[in-house]
Amino acid sequence: MEVKSIIFVCLGNICRSPLAEGIAKKYAKEYNLDLKIDSAGTGNWHVGEAPCSDSIKIGKQKGIDISNQRARLIQKEDFSNFDLVIALDDKNLRDLKNLGCKNPIKIGDFGCKGEDVPDPYFFNGFEGFDKVYEMIEVCVKNLIKDKSYKR
Ligand code: 4NP
Repeated sequence: MEVKSIIFVCLGNICRSPLAEGIAKKYAKEYNLDLKIDSAGTGNWHVGEAPCSDSIKIGKQKGIDISNQRARLIQKEDFSNFDLVIALDDKNLRDLKNLGCKNPIKIGDFGCKGEDVPDPYFFNGFEGFDKVYEMIEVCVKNLIKDKSYKR
């Protein structure tokens, strides 16, 4: 199956998955790929909000602007509208399965030895966002560049 669309899913859709969306869009552009890329959360606390200020900040430092994104809740339709549904950690993966998503994949399987991308919402300040960004970037770059998303 040729993959034409990818959605990244975390808990709040304000810290990790907006970065994954922004990084994936950057690489899709760089590699001239016509991909629909989006992100969403399994929790509704922050629906309609911009990404958290530290995710916007680390994105800016690395050269991507995610400030125009707005958080939204994952919908059942997303499971048929997107070819790949990619969870940022194990809990997101389990929640997606419980919501009826048949084949969600964990982002860490694309380059971080299956590791969870830690939830930075509970970090103490900006420290740690660099690691989160690096983890997401390694995995998303592999996913896009190596076309390992063709499954
Ligand atoms: P995210 O981080 O899943 O990376 O967007 C979180 C944001 C908000 C909450 C949890 C995680 N929250 O509990 O409100």
